[in-house]
Amino acid sequence: MGQRNPFIQIEQRPYVKHSAVQASRREIHEGSLVLVNRTNPIQQPLSTDKLQALSIYPNLNELHDGMLLEKNCLQQLVALLEACKGLEDIVAVSGYRSKDEQEQIYASSFIENGPEYTACYVAKPDQSEHQTGLAIDVGKRDNFVDFIAPSFPDSGVYQHFKQLAAQFGFIQRYKKGKESITNISCEPWHFRYVGFPHAEIMEKNDFCLEEYIEWIRSYSYAGERFRYENESLQVAIYYVPAEDAPSTTVPITSCDLYRISGNNSDGFIISAFTGKGHQVREQ
Ligand code: DAL
Ligand code: ZN
Repeated sequence: MGQRNPFIQIEQRPYVKHSAVQASRREIHEGSLVLVNRTNPIQQPLSTDKLQALSIYPNLNELHDGMLLEKNCLQQLVALLEACKGLEDIVAVSGYRSKDEQEQIYASSFIENGPEYTACYVAKPDQSEHQTGLAIDVGKRDNFVDFIAPSFPDSGVYQHFKQLAAQFGFIQRYKKGKESITNISCEPWHFRYVGFPHAEIMEKNDFCLEEYIEWIRSYSYAGERFRYENESLQVAIYYVPAEDAPSTTVPITSCDLYRISGNNSDGFIISAFTGKGHQVREQ
């Protein structure tokens, strides 16, 4: 099971010092911070070994059997559902979708709901972040659940889910007021896993993913790095543009543990974690 903070602290150990790693061009399109939208479509199909079946958690309600999500996203979703006590009342409606599935959903919504509604609520094939395995639609468990636009009230256990989401690395991806940036209408049911501490930073600054990815570009290894801090650890976050070469040398600041995510367009976002008095290590 996951936990609120996906890291544990262990006994004091010498810090691991990294200097640089190589990232291939392919990696620009991989990682929990990839931005997928009309202008940044999916570039390559997701490798299926990144996915896990929701059925490995028997307490989790699936609208349809066989749902899949990216492994970290699924683990943190279960942790979030446990924390908000939503396992009973919340149903997972739609997770990972292949390009073909997105194509079918788009085509059937176009026929059933018309072009305007479909443009508001269904991304075109290769423009849907459901194809990354990092997006999950959740709904109120009921006799009837709308697959495209499930009900997810702003009260009770659903509201609690939303309030705790950022602590588990999730953002409500399509918010009211951001429609002109996201090109999608407000979707209270669609959550996107971006990971810790990115979801908290986005929430605090009221950034949608498009705005966050743009904002991060002003932080660099050589210049100013963004610093996130809580009582137990600090995180340095910065952007490294991809080189016009098969691979990019990505400088890594001294830290206990780092993560690299592509932005799905032109570079990498590095998150370097350092514990306060303890080493941070992945679970
Ligand atoms: N409902 C979102 C926009 C999608 O289809 O990916
Ligand atoms: Zn969705």
